[in-house]
Amino acid sequence: LASIEVDVSAIEPGQAIKTSWRKQPVFVRNLTPAEVAEANKVAIGSLRDPQTLAERTKPGKENWLVTLGVCTHLGCVPLGAAAGEVKGEFGGYFCPCHGSHYDTAGRIRKGPAPLNLEVPEFAFISDTVVKIG
Ligand code: FES
Repeated sequence: LASIEVDVSAIEPGQAIKTSWRKQPVFVRNLTPAEVAEANKVAIGSLRDPQTLAERTKPGKENWLVTLGVCTHLGCVPLGAAAGEVKGEFGGYFCPCHGSHYDTAGRIRKGPAPLNLEVPEFAFISDTVVKIG
């Protein structure tokens, strides 16, 4: 199926963009060093859907978080990718439909969603271009 290429060169640390792939919203986020540290200090065993940030990103590019923008509860689009949107109690994304809070690695931390935001198949094809799909 069709893949897309996303130029991420203009996404500053702390910013994200929304794009879409296979008719689903996708968030591409450039984590700040503090957000990376926040994600890495969480005890994995305490997570509902245990995954490290490293497992959800690419080696040497752990600041680039690529996820579907689809809440794993009932499919609403979480807030937090656009400037000024609330990011929830764990600084990542917040789904306002029923109150699911995702952390800076896009992992579910509070609320009814059962799973982390899904990471689609993706790869860096250059330093600044990500291929999704
Ligand atoms: Fe996101 Fe229910 S759809 S919390």
